[in-house]
Amino acid sequence: MNRASLEKRPEEMAAMFDDVAPKYDVVNDILSMGQTRRWRRIVLEAVDAKPGQRVLDLAAGTGTSSEPFADAGVNVVACDFSVGMLKVGKRRRPDIDFIAGDATNLPFADNSFDASTISFGLRNVMDPKKALREMLRVTKPGGTLVVADFSHPTFAPFRTVYTEYLMRALPPIAKKVASNPAAYVYLAESIRVWPNQDKLSAWLTEAGWDAVAYRNLSGGIVAVHRAVKPLTVDGESAATDR
Ligand SMILES: C[S@@+](CC[C@H](N)C(=O)[O-])C[C@H]1O[C@@H](n2cnc3c(N)ncnc32)[C@H](O)[C@@H]1O
Repeated sequence: MNRASLEKRPEEMAAMFDDVAPKYDVVNDILSMGQTRRWRRIVLEAVDAKPGQRVLDLAAGTGTSSEPFADAGVNVVACDFSVGMLKVGKRRRPDIDFIAGDATNLPFADNSFDASTISFGLRNVMDPKKALREMLRVTKPGGTLVVADFSHPTFAPFRTVYTEYLMRALPPIAKKVASNPAAYVYLAESIRVWPNQDKLSAWLTEAGWDAVAYRNLSGGIVAVHRAVKPLTVDGESAATDR
C-alpha cells in the first residue's frame, strides 16, 4: 500500500485488515517489542469501568483490546468493520460480543454506553473526527472516552531515530513475518502523518468532548487521550436516552 492509499477508502481498509487478521496479534507483539500488554493495562485503568458497565471498544479488530475489559467483568462490545478480524476474535473469545459496524456510522443508540474507547484504530478511520462525534453520541453524559494510538515521541533526537526506525526497519521486518507487508508500510506512513498529542486533543475538544487530557507512554511512541462527555449539550440536558 503506497502513500496515495493513505486516503483510506473504507472497503480497501477493511480488506487490508481481513488479510492481516490471522497473524495480526503476533506481528503486533513483535513490532511493539512486547509493550502492548502494558499499554492495554493503562487503557483499562484510564477507562476505569466498573464490572457490569457497558463499554464500547471501537475498531476492536480481533478483540485483543477488548479482552482486559471482559477479564475485569466489564460488559464490553467489540465493534469493527473488518469481518475477518471479528471472526478471528470470536473464535478466540466467544464470550465477547463482536459487532460489525463502521466507526463513522455506529449501529448503536444515543447514550447507550457508560464509556467508549478506541485503541490503535482512530488513525485508520477515514474520517476520524466523525468517529469522535459518533463515540460522543453513543456515550452517556458524564461517560469517559479513551483513545490510545501511536503518537510523536517528545524528545526530538529520539523522534528522529524513531522515524528512521519506522521508515527503514519496519517494512523489511514485516516482509519476513507478515502475510501482507504492504499493511505495515502503510502503518509506518500513517503514524508519521498522524496529528501530534496537542492536535489530537484539539480534535477531541472540537468533537464536543470535555476535560481532555493525555498521557505519553514509552516517551510518546503511544499517547493515551482521556476525555469526558459533558452532562449538558448547549444548555440542554443530554441525559435522556432515545
Ligand atoms: C490496528 S487495528 C486495532 C485493533 C485493536 N483495537 C487493537 O488494539 O489491537 C485497527 C482496526 O481498525 C479497524 N477500522 C478501521 N477503520 C474502521 C472504521 N471506519 N470502522 C470500524 N473499524 C475500523 C480495522 O478494521 C482494524 O481492525
